[in-house]
Amino acid sequence: DQTTPSGPAVVLMGPPGAGKSTVARALAGITGLDVRDTDRDVERAAGASVSDIFVDHGEPHFRALERDAVATALAEHTGILALGGGAVLDPATQALLEDYRAGGGAVVFLDVSLSHAAPRVGFNQSRPLLLGNPRAQWQALMQARRPVYERLASVHVLTDGLTPRAAAESVVQQV
Ligand code: S3P
Repeated sequence: DQTTPSGPAVVLMGPPGAGKSTVARALAGITGLDVRDTDRDVERAAGASVSDIFVDHGEPHFRALERDAVATALAEHTGILALGGGAVLDPATQALLEDYRAGGGAVVFLDVSLSHAAPRVGFNQSRPLLLGNPRAQWQALMQARRPVYERLASVHVLTDGLTPRAAAESVVQQV
């Protein structure tokens, strides 16, 4: 007998500019499921924007709030869950995602190359880790995180050149 796994129907992870939010919305359109986004959960809990939290309290504080938001969402949410790009850096979050996946959960790595990510993130001042030289910052983030994304993922979708709808359809086919 197969019991339905609890938790989100699908978790989306990947670097800034991979299209996590837009693909989540497209997936919602296809499936009728709700979208939850850990950046928005953190902002609601803190009563401040992600960039203000970074400026006022630093990245470690943001990561602690993010860890709590991911844990709560994995426990409560049954729809589509989009993670902040760096959420996977936290070892406790990695363990939660491993458990979720071991229980039959779908962890999707939305992959993207710099040339496709750059137009989406380059001039967006709301991303505190990409200020200064966004292309170099993004490449450094991705180089450090790619092995983590690849290790945690049960599904890998390269979004280069795909519309959000096409990327969402690729996710649906693979989960
Ligand atoms: C971050 C990505 C952001 C946000 C924060 C840190 C990161 O989310 O959580 O600015 O470390 O990659 P998006 O991936 O939705 O941009």
